[in-house]
Amino acid sequence: AELNAASAELLGRAAASHHAGHTSLGLVPTMGALHEGHAALVRSAREANDVVVVSIFVNPLQFGEAADLERYPRNLEADLDLLAACGADVAFAPSSEEVYPGGEPMVRISSGALGAKFEGASRPGHFDGALTVVAKLLHYGLPPVPADYRAYFGQKDAQQLALVRRMAADLDFPVEIVGVPTVRDADGLALSSRNRFLAPEQRTAALVLYRSLSYLQEQADRHEPLDLEGALAMIRSVRQVDLDYLEVVDPDSLEPLAFNCQDTPFTGEALALIAARVGDVRLIDNVRLG
Ligand code: PAJ
Repeated sequence: AELNAASAELLGRAAASHHAGHTSLGLVPTMGALHEGHAALVRSAREANDVVVVSIFVNPLQFGEAADLERYPRNLEADLDLLAACGADVAFAPSSEEVYPGGEPMVRISSGALGAKFEGASRPGHFDGALTVVAKLLHYGLPPVPADYRAYFGQKDAQQLALVRRMAADLDFPVEIVGVPTVRDADGLALSSRNRFLAPEQRTAALVLYRSLSYLQEQADRHEPLDLEGALAMIRSVRQVDLDYLEVVDPDSLEPLAFNCQDTPFTGEALALIAARVGDVRLIDNVRLG
């Protein structure tokens, strides 16, 4: 408990010293192995806040298998270089013992029905673990004097973003949750720390995820009916890609929408969500429709 207090205190002091005379703080929670997607979050935070704090913590609570946790890439030195280049003020990289001094916490955030579907269906407990650590990190980053408090999350992880928004609203967290658009490679593949596990031909195969989403996006832009069957056929035609789900949902509740009907013209706003396995790498992506 000592260590935990010390780290949280340290972060509080660091934030306080940076904060003197300032009025806003932006927190960017990450698990490290930082890439341009994370950098976009830090830059968004930098633009809108006097103080920018980035946390780097590979949260054991949100991993299913120990093997998955172990193979998660870690590179603190490179991460700190990237953060310095993006203008972050404070990097907070605690150990597991600091965050969970008594071992796994008994009391956790429950992600409810929203956390049980899509990614939650294939990763039981994942979102409870993610929300629990996000709650703790939001507490660590809480500005010591009254200030605007913002936290930054990528639209890439649409379900996580929706859940963090719900947690902040449902549990009255004094923080504004800011969503940042997905950063992609030039060929459209959404940046992810897992992309490094893709062999070159798997990486090429993985491009069908964004291609199928873009296909739906074009129809939505033209207010045409969405050709979900056509999108599914595109994905099925790529042998190495094993589709988990492709769904058009409400952007906040992630409830399915009726656009599945082939002859209803698209109106309003939606998210098209996709998840697939390429080899043993699970990839997710999404685009906004409308
Ligand atoms: P991590 O996977 O490291 O992602 C940290 C943040 O970066 C998340 O908000 C994620 O959505 C965002 N991000 C990742 N790839 C992105 C991309 N290509 N474009 C834009 N943003 C991107 O998500 C987590 O860590 C953890 O679950 C965490 C929230 C830190 C809790 O442990």
